[in-house]
Formats: sequence, C-alpha cells, structure tokens
Amino acid sequence: MCGIIGYIGNKPANDVIFDGLTRLEYRGYDSAGIAVIDEGAIHVRKDIGKLRNIRRLLVDDFASSSSIGIGHTRWATHGRPSAFNAHPHGDCISSIMVAHNGIIENFMKLKKRLSDEGHEFKSETDSEVLAHLIESNYRGDFRQAVLDALKHVEGAYAIAVIHQKHPDEIVCIRKESPLIVGLGIEENFVASDVTAILQYTRQVVYLDNFEGAVVRRDGISFFNITGASVEKKAVQVDWNPVAAEKGGFSHFMLKEIFEQPQVIRNTIGGRTSEEEGKIYLEELKLTGPDIYRTQRIVIVACGTAYYAGCVGKYLIEKLVQIPVECDLASEFRYRSPLVDANTLVIAISQSGETADTLAAVKEAKSRKAKVLGIVNAKESSLTREVDGLVYIHAGPEIGVASTKAYIAMLTALTLLALMLGKIRSVLNSEFVKEKIKELKILPQQIERVLEKHDQIRELASIYKHARSFLYLGRGFNYPTALEGALKLKEISYIHAEAYAAGEMKHGPIALIDDQMPVMAIVTQSDVYDKTLSNLKEVQARSGCLIAIVTEGDSEIRHMTDHVIELPAVSDILSPIINVIPLQLFAYFVADLRGLDVDQPRNLAKSVTVE
Ligand code: G6P
Repeated sequence: MCGIIGYIGNKPANDVIFDGLTRLEYRGYDSAGIAVIDEGAIHVRKDIGKLRNIRRLLVDDFASSSSIGIGHTRWATHGRPSAFNAHPHGDCISSIMVAHNGIIENFMKLKKRLSDEGHEFKSETDSEVLAHLIESNYRGDFRQAVLDALKHVEGAYAIAVIHQKHPDEIVCIRKESPLIVGLGIEENFVASDVTAILQYTRQVVYLDNFEGAVVRRDGISFFNITGASVEKKAVQVDWNPVAAEKGGFSHFMLKEIFEQPQVIRNTIGGRTSEEEGKIYLEELKLTGPDIYRTQRIVIVACGTAYYAGCVGKYLIEKLVQIPVECDLASEFRYRSPLVDANTLVIAISQSGETADTLAAVKEAKSRKAKVLGIVNAKESSLTREVDGLVYIHAGPEIGVASTKAYIAMLTALTLLALMLGKIRSVLNSEFVKEKIKELKILPQQIERVLEKHDQIRELASIYKHARSFLYLGRGFNYPTALEGALKLKEISYIHAEAYAAGEMKHGPIALIDDQMPVMAIVTQSDVYDKTLSNLKEVQARSGCLIAIVTEGDSEIRHMTDHVIELPAVSDILSPIINVIPLQLFAYFVADLRGLDVDQPRNLAKSVTVE
C-alpha cells in the first residue's frame, strides 16, 4: 500500500526520494508526490499514474538543489486517485508537508472543526487534516507541534513531516503503521520499509508504536509520544540490496519464482539434524508444557498466506494429530473466536504488517492464547506482537503476487509440523530423518520443474484468451488449487475459481464445456484415484483439461489435453512442488496478455488497512 520516504543529506533530495519511491512501487500505488525545502520555501510536485510517467514532473522538471524532502506513493482509500489527493499534503500556507500512511479514523470530525476555524482543505483525504492540525498547534517548536497535533488523532499513522521554518530536520512518528529510520554518513533517511533505502544503508532503527524521531543530517534524536527521549539501537539489515533488484529477469515475479529452490534451502538452513531426526526452530519460544497443553491450533492469515495456512492444517493434523482450524484473519477478528490458553494461534504473514492479521493476533492474545508468527519481514509489527516466531527467510519479495514467500511458508510449516509431531511422540526419529532428507532434495526437484518454463509458456499462449478457469485439487493439494487460481486472477485478470475436486459435482460441473479450461492437480497420492474419477467427469463433458501429474503417469495421458509432469515427492511435500507450474502458468498468461505482472491493478503488496 502507501509508501513513505524522507531524505536529509548531501545529495539532491528529489533524486534520492524518487529512487526510493521506485523501490516502494511494489507495494501498489496510484499516485505519488515529492516535497522538498529549497531556499526557505517548500516545493511540492504530485500526480496520478506510474512513476515512470510522472518522472519528468517529479525529477526532470523539478530543478532543485534541495537536500531535504519527503515523498509518498499513495494507494487510494479516502478519496479517489488524483493529483489533489496525492501526498504530501500541506497546511493552508504550504509551510508544512506531511506524508502519511494509515487511516485517521476521526478525520471527518477534525476536518469540520478545522474548517470552522478557517482552515482551507484542498483534498478529499483523511491525511490532510494532519498538516492543518500541525499548523494550528505550531508555536515555534516543530516537534512539539507534531506531538500536540497527534493528541487529537484517532487511527493509525506513520508520518514524515517537513516544515519550511525548520529546513534541517524531518520529524517522523508512528502508531500501528510501520516506519523506520535509516542511518547513513552525513545523510539519514525515513521510510515505511527497508527496501526503499537498502541501496543507501543497511543500518536501520525500527520505530515502535508511539515512537518518533527528529532526523537531521548529522544525527537523530528519538522520542516517544509524550515527548520523552528514548534510546534506540540500530540493527544491520541482512537483506542484500541486490536481492531487491530484477537481476536480468523481465519481472520480479519471474525472478522470485526462480529463486524458490534457494529460498527452500534458506528456510531449512541450520534448522535440521538429519542424523538425529531433529528440527530446531530457535525463535519459536514454545516450551514443552506449551506444546503438550495445546489442544487446538488456529491458523490466521490473509491472501496467499491464508492458503499456506490451509496446507498447514493438512500438515499439522496429519503429523501432529491436533485439530487445526484455518481462518481468514478478517473473519476471525470479528466472530468472537473460541480460543483460550490451550489454543495455539499461528499467524502467517510475509510482510508482518497486514492489518487484519495483526488485529486477529490481538484478539487471540486478549483471549489468552499463545501466538506464534510465521513471518518473512524481520522486525515487522507482527514480530513484536507474538510470543514466538518462525522466520521464513525468503528475502525481500517485490512482486505483488506472492510466490517465494508462499513456498517458504510451506517449508516452515513442514518443519514446524515435523518438530511438534516429534515432541508429541506422534512421529518417530526415522520418519523425521526421512522427511528431512526429502526436504533437502526438494530444491533440485524444483529446479527440474523450472526447466519446463518453455512448455508452460507454450501452454499459456494457448489459454491466454480464456475467460474463466477452474482449478481442481484434493487433500494437500486443494489449497494448491486455491493458490493457483488466486495467482491467475491476481495478475492476468482472468476469472479463476478453485474447488476441491470431489466437490465439483455439487455445482461447478454445470459450468464445464469446451470453453472452460480445467487445471487439475493430480499427482500421485492417497487421493489419486479419487481425483482421477473426478476428472473423468470433466472429460465426459468435453472440458479441456490440463493436468499436473507425477512423472511417468501413463494412465492420465489419454484423458487430458495437456500434462505437466513433476518429479515424485511424498504427499506432505507435494504442495511445495505442485504450485510451481501454476505460478509459472499465471506469470506467462499475464505477460503474454501484456499486463503489468509485478504491479497488478488495484492490488497492494502489504494491506495495512482493514
Ligand atoms: C495482499 C497481497 C498478497 C498477500 C496478502 C497477505 O493481499 O497482495 O500477495 O498474500 O496481502 O499479505 P501478508 O504480508 O500478510 O502475507
């Protein structure tokens, strides 16, 4: 969603800020803007559209020698995408500029009050009230004006603010929406996420809720919402800036699909002992009694992370024999969920910033459940809310449609299930040893699937004009079908629906004809024969069938239009490999349709609002 970058240093501010904004593009946006202080005046440029189309406005025609400024990419919530609604937003006399992420819940009331006092608003946004509030609280002390303004604000915010009369500082502060400060040499940064500044510095301070900073060229002072100073420690971010580049691939999504073998190695790295049949998840922080006491597990997540959770349900129920429920975070938080101290809640999130997932965790904690996070982004908000963690080590994921984070989530869930199953004596060491061995060869097997990219591209060119797709899977691979359909609709805008293959005859079979391609996951498993029978029902109705099958399966060939063969793996690992051709298929369909694969319309990478 929205992105913020602030810069103060010795380089041209609008170059650095524009560069940072391009690195935030992946979050999804519809407009952008930059404000700088130059020779005692504030200059602001903003417009709708992609950065490449408004570069001239923001940089080339914005000749400025300024080395302090803020920038923002906006994803519309309050007010349509427009130049007026784009950030930064100013006060009545444009002496203050604010870039804001989050939502000001009481903005209507504040706007009315400020309007009655004579403030003139130029936009339809909630964010603009912040600039006017700071203006009306300004008595010469910039930081204090921001703090006093925020006393009136309800909602979530991460803000970076500049003031014409204070050309040597950026004031920033956060509540609920993430914000970081980056430390350079004679230059410092503010950003909503590390990818914006990775190319300049990896020394980062993560602000906690209600913490802020006055960022100057030569130093930073941290404070909290009461105005008291706070000590903050910088951490070295281990994400490599090169990991956030395309590295020769035409899109981030394709690069991230091809990174998946390495991502699995990273997720597993150092966490297994094949000799002893043991899994070590150090940040888990669950004690033996916690694990024995658990009577039920509830997984909460959104989007692709939710489908990873659905696979987690099958994994944990099979390997740990504890009942598992997987719930959409947005549903869980509002349905008075039945969780208590004997429930383990697992929250899964790539970004660790998804508003509904964070709210679900708070709900679970208020009901005394232990909460475990399966997270990619280090130091994200979720990592601070949970009792224990399993980092998935996928590295920065830039493509809006999640691929490598999904694979890493599945790998982490497999490790977790094996570990819990062993501790609860459901699994013996031999079984765990065998699965560790299989997990370790999985990356090579996935490399073989990736080599089939030309075949999958060919298939995509046949089906790129389809109007609708049905995805079918059973058991462990029902969630794979859900995730495959999600990938297709997210980036190619083709309607795709996934069904448990056995359920097809209860409705979607009515849709089957020669215009409705069916993508079926029918690799060898306990439910192979059952799935085959379901596919015969498709065949009997002239449906065109693409089947994801295990290498050497001759039975299925005569009844399908196309097959994609995958190396044989055991049931529990099959979702990790089976989704790969579905990711590639969605990618190629979208690319062949000429669509913006990495930033599909209307979508945001990290959904930080409800
Ligand atoms: C958005 C993204 C999805 C992602 C979901 C959950 O909808 O577009 O790709 O799966 O949020 O995000 P999270 O960061 O919590 O995994």
